[in-house]
Amino acid sequence: MHDNETIIKRILQLKKERNAVILSHNYQRGEIQDIADFIGDSLELSRTAAKTDYDVIIFCGVHFMAESAAILSPDKTVILPEINAGCPMADMVTVTGSRRIVNILPVTLERVFYEFPEDFTLIDMKRMYPGIPVVAYVNTTATVKAESDICCTSGNVAKVIDSLDMDTVICIPDRNLSAWAARNTKKNVITWDGFCHVHHRIRPDDVRKAKSLHPDAPFIAHPECRPEVIDLADHVSSTSGMLRFAKENEAKEFIIGTERGLIHRLKKENPRKQFYPLREDMVCPNMKKTHIESVLKALETMQTVIKVLEDVRVKAKMALDRMLEI
Ligand code: 13P
Ligand code: SF4
Repeated sequence: MHDNETIIKRILQLKKERNAVILSHNYQRGEIQDIADFIGDSLELSRTAAKTDYDVIIFCGVHFMAESAAILSPDKTVILPEINAGCPMADMVTVTGSRRIVNILPVTLERVFYEFPEDFTLIDMKRMYPGIPVVAYVNTTATVKAESDICCTSGNVAKVIDSLDMDTVICIPDRNLSAWAARNTKKNVITWDGFCHVHHRIRPDDVRKAKSLHPDAPFIAHPECRPEVIDLADHVSSTSGMLRFAKENEAKEFIIGTERGLIHRLKKENPRKQFYPLREDMVCPNMKKTHIESVLKALETMQTVIKVLEDVRVKAKMALDRMLEI
């Protein structure tokens, strides 16, 4: 077993030898954020992956994020240090076969019901609404992106919808992000019925409780939260939008309605301010699978490389490029 200092030293050395860059999503463990060359939200990470000059991208995040990097940078080696770090919400929409059903029991003693049958695919949805453009949240697989017209992130969903010619759009996979988009555009939004179990778990009562404990703290919500939670928010944005809001706002304390990993960065960038997670269990287990040992192993073994089949990649890239052009 090595101590952290030895691991970090070896990571830095190997990074140089491999000409590698380490990217970390805002939800990663503090130890990963601290060694990353770049930390960001999904959109920022896609952009960085697209323009980086490094030969190797070590993607500390979940599978769909590394896939996006591989789609945008086919000539680079994209490595996901923990291959089982997936996103349950991304797996809720498929092109063929059944989607994965996520049950958020036993955390909230509540079952989330799906509106569509288990084997309902994106192709079935497109057949139901012929000619209606599909806006795919970046939290989708490459195969799903390849069947979509344009991608979006939590920060630009309304802008993306407004950029389309049609009055009606299909928005996948998050029902809550679709509801948020519908509030911010005049267009009709047809939604898929997926959800992020970390954000969907929050209820209005959680917000009321946190507000009674911290009455001076604005509540910042992620658009993946339920509409009734969004109604109680003082600010709604992607993780990077939350970082900006916390920096610019005069308040000294904030209630954070997103995955707890963001609090590491919020505290680091605003040492004089206080940040309270809305709920203690706002943790994405997949985002927490990567440790610094995983990064070291990834650099030593160059595993696991994320590759996307070329015909899928080309089509998925069109959807991502359309978004990046906006
Ligand atoms: P961003 O708001 O950072 O895009 O990410 C949300 C998310 O849940 C990523 O998995
Ligand atoms: Fe997926 Fe939610 Fe985890 Fe993000 S926080 S990776 S959307 S499950």
